[in-house]
Amino acid sequence: MSRVTLSRYLIEETRSNHTPADLRFLIEVVARACKAISHQVSKGALGGVLGSADSENVQGEVQKKLDVLSNEILLEANEWGGHLAGMASEEMDHAYQIPGQYPKGAYLLVFDPLDGSSNIDVNVSVGTIFSVLRCPDDYDGDGHLGDDAFLQSGTRQVAAGYAIYGPQTMLVLTLGYGVKGFTLDRELGSFVLTHEDMQVPASTAEFAINMSNQRHWEAPVKRYVDELLAGKQGPLGKNYNMRWIASMVADVHRILTRGGLFMYPRDGRDPSMPGKLRLMYEANPMAMIIEQAGGAATDGVQRILDIEPTSLHQRVPVFLGSREEVERVTSYHRAD
Ligand code: AHG
Ligand code: MN
Ligand code: MN
Repeated sequence: MSRVTLSRYLIEETRSNHTPADLRFLIEVVARACKAISHQVSKGALGGVLGSADSENVQGEVQKKLDVLSNEILLEANEWGGHLAGMASEEMDHAYQIPGQYPKGAYLLVFDPLDGSSNIDVNVSVGTIFSVLRCPDDYDGDGHLGDDAFLQSGTRQVAAGYAIYGPQTMLVLTLGYGVKGFTLDRELGSFVLTHEDMQVPASTAEFAINMSNQRHWEAPVKRYVDELLAGKQGPLGKNYNMRWIASMVADVHRILTRGGLFMYPRDGRDPSMPGKLRLMYEANPMAMIIEQAGGAATDGVQRILDIEPTSLHQRVPVFLGSREEVERVTSYHRAD
């Protein structure tokens, strides 16, 4: 059987599902950038890419060298191709302008260039998360793209995906009709379709949460996690296992592979931060992927994809994964 590469898959999608050619090109370019990031990540200490970059991003987080490098790789790969009206990233305060000498296109690309930065130096899986939106037709920024062009709900994403840099490098992608997984064949230099139809099982006995924040959680989350921990003798009547990788990409990838529930709830540590994860380039793309794989994603109250964003780096609580458990923890919030 001949192998289906990402390029071939995208060409077939353009033919049969009306994925526009410029969107196909955009995804190809993002995939190429992810290959380059994968290469840099894999060099580790040999490439001098570990450690901090002596700078902070807009969110006051110390940037790692690989955060900065990955951001540059994505910007440079995507700025000249004529498929984008602009880009936004975790690592940049505001929208990135396509340089004047290059043509502009119909789409907006938003990304977390390197997710799970705290895991880089300890050789644990990290990844890249991306979301594709359309630039509003009536957008008139006087030649300058403002952050407001990006403030669209997740339901308006035309594509979302992530690359995971782990024992294997994979690209997981949705164009709005199911979720496909591609594994990087390093000898071929191409992503090859290996996971035809990724599905999140409806029920699970595995959850993921940073338990060290327990004392800061709100009542519904405390109640729910207490019930999970009570196991077979508790109200849920089964024993649950726990995993926490601290790279959202890796936790979500596990859930897409064998089910589970991922939680990063709002907590009381800093009242100005309603959760840790960012809506535009973490929660929204992952919510689209999880929903497309038959799972669910809420902020505890409403569907993540329905949230109307108010700022580029907005944070939200996140509950996503197997449908039954997301519905249960969401119902506890609603009852509160
Ligand atoms: P980033 O490295 O892009 O800032 O994201 C890290 C995020 C996410 O990947 C992960 O799920 C979470 O932070 C881990 O948080 P804790 O450090 O609280 O475990
Ligand atoms: Mn992240
Ligand atoms: Mn990041």
